[in-house]
Amino acid sequence: MNRTPIHVWDWVVRVGHWTLACAFLTAYFTAESESLRLIHTTSGLVALAVVLFRIVWGFVGSRHALFTSFIRSPKEAMTYLKHLRRTNPDHHTGHNPAGGWAVIALLGLTALTATAGLANYNEWGGHMMEKAHEVLANLSLGLVIVHVLAVAISSWVHRENLVNPMFTGVKQGYANEAIAVERGRFTAVLLLVWAAVLAWWLR
Ligand code: HEM
Repeated sequence: MNRTPIHVWDWVVRVGHWTLACAFLTAYFTAESESLRLIHTTSGLVALAVVLFRIVWGFVGSRHALFTSFIRSPKEAMTYLKHLRRTNPDHHTGHNPAGGWAVIALLGLTALTATAGLANYNEWGGHMMEKAHEVLANLSLGLVIVHVLAVAISSWVHRENLVNPMFTGVKQGYANEAIAVERGRFTAVLLLVWAAVLAWWLR
């Protein structure tokens, strides 16, 4: 069987990804400004809401969004990385085994950063919490830079643009790996409404 373009990423994954990316970067780059404090706190809370929704989606979402479909052992992740140097490296239709760990780290660090920020905003934990929020935010940015570089390297090694599928949902794979087309559109709207309501409620 040959690989053909199939639907891999559902609406929740795609809308969630770009909302999270924009919210995280907005929160990061408005952190130092007093006058942009409302934008900083709101975007941080939107990021937290998206991560919480994505965690639920990791248990009930479509095939390639499920944690069980992409969390592999550290050994498999190392083997995947070693095989990248081969002329024909292992191809994965969803997240590859190393990428799967990066997804967990990105979701976890973003959630911790936003939670520390929320505690800070409510003046819980004093100076320690302020420092923790700052350190976590910088670690998150470092990981985001690694993430974007890894996406670029993986796209080059596999001769496949991985960014486009995060917009269109369509990626190279086998026909029997395709997800049901666009079933999650309503859920994606729900994700945005949930993110907005949670951000407003916690503000
Ligand atoms: C702005 C530049 C960015 C680009 C070009 C980008 C690109 C991508 C791509 C192509 C994937 C899919 C990887 C694969 O095929 O396995 C992905 C997944 C992911 N990215 Fe990014 N990303 C960016 C920024 C971010 C930021 C700022 C965050 C978080 C703070 C982030 C978090 C994630 C997460 C959590 C996933 C997994 C998606 C899921 O399964 O729901 N990304 N990204």
